[in-house]
Amino acid sequence: MKKVVLAYSGGLDTSCAVKWLKDQGFEVVCFVADLGQGLGKGEDLDLIEERALVAGASKVYIKDLQEEFIQDFILPALKANAIYEGKYLLATALGRPLIAKYLVQIAHKEKASAVAHGCTGKGNDQVRFEVTAAILDPKLEIVAPVREWEFKSREEEIEYAKMNNIPIDVTKKKVYSIDRNLWGVSIEAGILEDLEQEPPEDAYIMTKGPTHVSTYPRYIEIYFEKGVPKKIDGKVYKLGALIGELNEIGGNHGVGRSDIVENRLVGIKSREIYEAPAGTILYTAHKELESLVLDRELAHFKEIASLKYSELVYYGLWYSPLKEALDAFVDSTQKNVTGSVRLKLSKGSCVAVGRKSSHSLYKKELSTYGKEDKFNQKLAEGFIKIWGMPYKKQ
Ligand code: ARG
Repeated sequence: MKKVVLAYSGGLDTSCAVKWLKDQGFEVVCFVADLGQGLGKGEDLDLIEERALVAGASKVYIKDLQEEFIQDFILPALKANAIYEGKYLLATALGRPLIAKYLVQIAHKEKASAVAHGCTGKGNDQVRFEVTAAILDPKLEIVAPVREWEFKSREEEIEYAKMNNIPIDVTKKKVYSIDRNLWGVSIEAGILEDLEQEPPEDAYIMTKGPTHVSTYPRYIEIYFEKGVPKKIDGKVYKLGALIGELNEIGGNHGVGRSDIVENRLVGIKSREIYEAPAGTILYTAHKELESLVLDRELAHFKEIASLKYSELVYYGLWYSPLKEALDAFVDSTQKNVTGSVRLKLSKGSCVAVGRKSSHSLYKKELSTYGKEDKFNQKLAEGFIKIWGMPYKKQ
């Protein structure tokens, strides 16, 4: 019998996919990746395992990949200041290659000939899963049940689940499509498809809305060492705990929301809202510190690299030569990115209000308009003459 390893979430789509794959003649092994989406511990995990087995899986793997996600995916993206179309910190996009990596690994261990996922044929995630799997093992067959099956609506799918005794949670009415991990939440569909509507408060998960946030601003200081965040207000944290803490603090101040009509890789424009409290705080602080310690040319070039980096992540090209080369470039830019940034969080906004570094390139005696001024203004005249010379001749 052919064997397939399915990326399993416990939701309706992947639960129906188990049964559907069995009907196609596969033995189905389920893989649940914990990227900090709030699977909980103990009982919750038992429940998800049981659900997969009842749906027809022969075996279930559940792996906590949070540490690897933080060190090998989130951190490089943070150092690169990767942000897609100016608003999306790529939480979902960063998680996919990691899940795909383990799908392939488990397929090898299980001697399976195929891997499967529950993505639709309209999104980016199918591309990320499949391109990654193809890069890591081109021989594996890829099956995408949701692209192939005949259900026309969610109702039909629920009917199929009921008929086949597939355990699902239909008590909760599904209003949005949500993908979550410890770097953020992506929320789409439902009322959000109406571009003229402001997202309703109930769409948000990690952040408080304007009527619930604290009325007082919160000042917070983040310390980085070679581009890696290490401390909050002088207290040392492991990166995972630091992100957790900042999600909490940022969420309480409504920080990290964005609302975007984005360009999907498959050519469709779609409206999505995102929440990334910790990501927004760290991104803001990191960029601020870089502006202090990177010289102009490096800083400007790094912006170009950031743009490309975010595209590669979004396009599913995590394991590509250019992304690898960009990581090497980014790492070389981080050697002086050590220092602290003080931020003010207030009613959804997050702005840097102070910064310091022993590698600072700021020279007060050059920029000051006060009496400590050491800049020889007479030199400017010659500089401008030469700088403007080619244009004057024209
Ligand atoms: N648009 C985002 C991306 O392509 C998120 C996709 C998943 N979103 C969701 N709500 N399920 O990375």
